[in-house]
Amino acid sequence: MPIDHQLGPVGPHERVLDRGATAVAHPNIALIKYWGKRDERLIIPYVDSLSMTLDVFPTTTTVRLSPAAQADSVTLNGTPAAGEPRQRVIAFLDLVRELAGRTEPAAVETRNSGPTGAGVASSASGFAALAVAGAAAYGLDLDPTALSRLARRGSASAARSIFGGFAICHAGRGVGAAADLGSYAEPVPVPEFDPALVIALVNAGPKAVSSRAAMRRTVETSPLYRSWVISSKADLADMRAALHRGDLEAVGEIAERNALGMHATMLAARPAVRYLSPATLSVLDGVLRLREDGVPAYATMDAGPNVKVLCHRADAARVAETVRGAAPGCSVVTARRGPGARLRMGAEQ
Ligand code: DP6
Repeated sequence: MPIDHQLGPVGPHERVLDRGATAVAHPNIALIKYWGKRDERLIIPYVDSLSMTLDVFPTTTTVRLSPAAQADSVTLNGTPAAGEPRQRVIAFLDLVRELAGRTEPAAVETRNSGPTGAGVASSASGFAALAVAGAAAYGLDLDPTALSRLARRGSASAARSIFGGFAICHAGRGVGAAADLGSYAEPVPVPEFDPALVIALVNAGPKAVSSRAAMRRTVETSPLYRSWVISSKADLADMRAALHRGDLEAVGEIAERNALGMHATMLAARPAVRYLSPATLSVLDGVLRLREDGVPAYATMDAGPNVKVLCHRADAARVAETVRGAAPGCSVVTARRGPGARLRMGAEQ
């Protein structure tokens, strides 16, 4: 079985060419958020980010080379993909082909077991799985750092899902090739720190504004963005120290303030981007009540209304019950730290 921070073994090349390559990757939730790109083409973030890879909602992706086909085909959850999602997969395959010096089209089949495009990091698991399967299918022999860099070109958050447990994604320095080289994720080894993340799916539908468009608007128009970038550096340093101490309360406080700050930058964009809904705020109230009752619980939200609540594993059932009470009808899933992206071997395909 694969363990944190390791990729499964790459199968024999012949097998990959015969049957394609299948990879599995899990979403990750950032405790220190990535929001905003300083290079849109290379997908280079403005800030370093730090996340926990989950053990729920895996994406499974198969890439099969189809030398006889005229073009790539892309299937998402059994349905042919169209529009932007399809274009992003094809652009990513073009990059893999360029790196591999190959030209054959491919058939990509991908399945998300969690909601797609709802701010539960489906693009993170999606592009991490596509990077691992695509690299193997086209015969690229990449180490985890290079895979992470490659996954970043699909979605910056995907760079972190190459690794299990906790991972930091470096924003990199400089411009062009130097920035590309310096922007990748690596594990933050804190094996003893194993909290629960209670996910409240208050709305599992796709978001109205993509995170890509929302972060662009924030960078271009929000007067608060610069301040958040500066405070994010301090948050990251505090977060690393808190993680190494295994201090859940500090980790939670820092994650919550960092996420609320990110949402503040969006609210100040012109026009405002508001992902948080009334149900989100009810769950946040529930989290505050838990803390007043002495249960350490801290919230983080991404580009959507869903809330992820960090807590001790022993408190997860109580937190889940509070969240259900706060947002009746929402579905609640409790996650823990999960494994890094890996290739699936023949018998598992
Ligand atoms: C709020 O990685 O989906 O979840 O790089 O444009 O594909 P692109 O964006 P994406 O943005 C994730 C933003 C976030 C915070 C985070 O995961 O760090």
